[in-house]
Amino acid sequence: MKGAVRAHWGSRMAFVLAAAGSAIGLGNIWKFPYVAGVNGGGLFVLIYIFCILLVGIPVFIAELYIGQQGQKNVVESFEVLDKKRTVWSFPGYLGLVSAFFILSFYSVVGGWVLDFEYRSLMFQFSGMNHKDVGEILNSLFSNPLRQTFWHFCFVLLSGSVVWAGVSKGLERFNKVLMPSLLVILLGLLGYSFTLPGFSKALDFLFFPHATDISASSILEAVGHSFFTLSLGMGAILTYGSYLSKKESLSRVAFTVAFLDTTIALIAGMIIFSIVFSFDLEPAAGPGLIFATLPSLFVQLPGGSILSILFFLLVTFAALTSAVSILEVVVAFWTERFNTSRHKTTLVVALVVFLFGLPSVFSTNIMSDVKMFGLTFFDLFDKLTSSYFLPIGGLLISLFYGWKLGPKAIEKTFGGPIKFWSTGLLWLTRVVAPLAIFLVLYNMAVGF
Ligand code: PHE
Repeated sequence: MKGAVRAHWGSRMAFVLAAAGSAIGLGNIWKFPYVAGVNGGGLFVLIYIFCILLVGIPVFIAELYIGQQGQKNVVESFEVLDKKRTVWSFPGYLGLVSAFFILSFYSVVGGWVLDFEYRSLMFQFSGMNHKDVGEILNSLFSNPLRQTFWHFCFVLLSGSVVWAGVSKGLERFNKVLMPSLLVILLGLLGYSFTLPGFSKALDFLFFPHATDISASSILEAVGHSFFTLSLGMGAILTYGSYLSKKESLSRVAFTVAFLDTTIALIAGMIIFSIVFSFDLEPAAGPGLIFATLPSLFVQLPGGSILSILFFLLVTFAALTSAVSILEVVVAFWTERFNTSRHKTTLVVALVVFLFGLPSVFSTNIMSDVKMFGLTFFDLFDKLTSSYFLPIGGLLISLFYGWKLGPKAIEKTFGGPIKFWSTGLLWLTRVVAPLAIFLVLYNMAVGF
């Protein structure tokens, strides 16, 4: 597609689904329950919801707008809108770096999901109790070759979609899969309602216990709201750039944020019902969903089929997110250097695969190799979610609120809607940047 006309979404619906597909992924089903667990539940969840409302949604709108009006990739959209070509392309470059870091560990976790899908297909979980499931998880973690294989498969799958391009690849993918995931999650939620641990799960997740919440938990809540909405690194910006300049944006942001948060909370309720019913550890870390869900499936009539279906849908949710991250880099590279989509995708996917290996080895042969006290897996996750994405979001918010200003905001709403546009103006000018800055500042030097 050298120098071709820019592709666009086939319909508004296709765009909303793709944006939702990007947002809804491992962040909701794998990461949210585990970070909520590690950070003590209720208070963390409350802060996270506040962040979505006050920081996430404004930045989401800003990113969409920059992409839509720039009609270019993550770096050049800033350059188009800021005609002077000053420092404003920096968030674009930071986004490219974040893309590699995130994908590297994201596709390792995607690989774990593939492994669990394979085991479900082989009926390996039937008759197991939660201890056996825990052992399966440990054997996967301690096996570098097996993890490398599945990590490779995951990169290959996401690469193939990006290879096929915007309308043929990305668009088709999202239409059926996202609604199916919601249906199966609601079904599981219905079942977890009957478990003895359900009310304890609600209490854990929604009641702000007076636990001491640390600065790092707050930073994690801010960071997770960026991660889960795919913000701060240009994924939403790039998707916005495939939208015609006339489409209005504000509703999309609300719809996606609502769906994304709902799915995370449902996943949380399911997982913690299992945790408290079987006396498992809520702060178990990244293995949490893998150690818990199969224990629920084996107890259910038709559980093996459910397990197959569930991990399949999580695979798809993960793929639609991974694809949006890859697309950021591929769109930039093909447009900036006029290379072909196919070759670029191949090279980028290869680099992501190699970059993911330290994360694969973090649970086995390199588990003792630590930087800042963290394994590579944790480091890449923390660096991006807690620092790069919030910093990217801060700059995007400032660019939209100050540099583009009130005119852009009016245009976002398709006319002068006083209440909302004034609100958004000050959210992006002051509230969101200040909140992010304070949290980062507090982490760096303490108050
Ligand atoms: N939002 C995705 C998820 O929750 C992850 C993601 C992060 C996607 C950043 C794109 C950009 O799984």
